[in-house]
Amino acid sequence: MTDDVLVVHGGTPLEGRIRVRGAKNLVSKAMVAALLGDTPSRLFDVPNIRDVEVVRGLLGLHGVKVTDGEEEGELVFDPANVESASTDQINVHAGSSRIPILFCGPLLHRLGHAFIPDLGGCHIGPRPIDFHLQALREFGATVDKRPEGLHLSAPNGLHGTKFSLPYPSVGATEQVLLTAVMAEGVTELRNAAVEPEIIDLICVLQKMGAIIKVHTDRVIEIQGVPKLHGYTHRPIPDRIEAASWAAAALATRGHVEVLGAQQADMMTFLNIFRSVGGEYEVTDLRPPRHGDAGQEGGIRFWHPGGELKSVALETDVHPGFMTDWQQPLVVALTQARGLSIVHETVYEQRLGYTEALNTMGANIQVYRDCLGGTPCRFGRRNFKHSAVIAGPSKLHAADLVIPDLRAGFSHLIAALAAEGTSRVYGVDLINRGYEDFEAKLADLGAHVERP
Ligand code: EPZ
Repeated sequence: MTDDVLVVHGGTPLEGRIRVRGAKNLVSKAMVAALLGDTPSRLFDVPNIRDVEVVRGLLGLHGVKVTDGEEEGELVFDPANVESASTDQINVHAGSSRIPILFCGPLLHRLGHAFIPDLGGCHIGPRPIDFHLQALREFGATVDKRPEGLHLSAPNGLHGTKFSLPYPSVGATEQVLLTAVMAEGVTELRNAAVEPEIIDLICVLQKMGAIIKVHTDRVIEIQGVPKLHGYTHRPIPDRIEAASWAAAALATRGHVEVLGAQQADMMTFLNIFRSVGGEYEVTDLRPPRHGDAGQEGGIRFWHPGGELKSVALETDVHPGFMTDWQQPLVVALTQARGLSIVHETVYEQRLGYTEALNTMGANIQVYRDCLGGTPCRFGRRNFKHSAVIAGPSKLHAADLVIPDLRAGFSHLIAALAAEGTSRVYGVDLINRGYEDFEAKLADLGAHVERP
């Protein structure tokens, strides 16, 4: 196998403090939004992760000059010379991320046409883009699907529309926002997703000059404007990464302070964390005053000793329990007494990673039925989307192959919690969404090494 492997000597509690930066699932979209401005944009706290590199590369190909700012993690985007790129150049990024689909609206506004390569991203089910394409057609775009990718054009410009999403998709909501802000007239989006990352994208667009109203009942109304300018923005912190480290603290019986983690965006996670028996303390930001340096805010997560308790949870759109929190937490649930139930309602195939946990001694059964919650879109279809976790189980070391980003992190947590030495293959995939995770593991006292 490849040298993309991490050797993990498990059984040591993670102890210490790490910091999370801007949320991957906002930063990448804010970068795309910079294309819409006619003056430079400035984004702070950008993590050094693969998805950011891909978007940076695509922006560069389209004439957006991307430079490092003065502050560590600051990027500056200059869209003064937006230009077309060849399909060959763009296709270098084929299969590397799902973000390219969000270039449609901005490129149509700036150039009148767009080419989108084959998408990548995690293999967690079919992940169709039908809502995106349907919405773009409603705005007046023509979409030509060819073997090399999607060719879009808008011969008569883009016009506001009324559109209702069949499901509150995060990406499709962002697609509509990034297209509607400069489309002529008003757009009304019903059944929109309202994740904190989406609200933060709305903040970015509003800073650029957009007019966007978020109504009750998941309705978003956007009044198109002819021109947008650049923004300066400090993104919300990565709540998925924060929860991942929290779950790692719990599963390894450790104690981890996550600087930057924000309570408001993690409320649902914190409730489950406490129900399982984990403890946390929110440390609010204290600004510098009277000569003292102040204190960065965050959340301390720890295992208080004794046994963890089983829970029933289902993943859902915001403000529900995020699907991306599920995989890391399940590792901790293998240590809880009794039967825990996890009903995955966002993706139909996001429990495959549990097989690897079973090879390590976990006892997890997956079912096609909607267990423990309300029936979802996947009920009575052929998708194993509910899991029953019987615990506590003693985890032992194993050789693991990482299937996707979040499941990969859960494999890593399992290896850290298990007795003995595991080899985790395909570990570079974790760099897609977790900045400097190996350095952070070292800071937390984990015994890991590259062979
Ligand atoms: C975003 O993916 C995130 N990715 C995902 O995080 C996250 O799991 C997901 O939202 C849900 O919160 C990014 O932001 C880059 P969706 P997205 O459209 O936008 C179905 C991670 O690890 N659907 O909300 O692609 C779809 O199949 C990643 O950071 C359609 O049917 O997710 C899924 O079942 C993984 N047709 C559901 O909607 C469409 O056209 C939700 O997907 C679009 C989506």
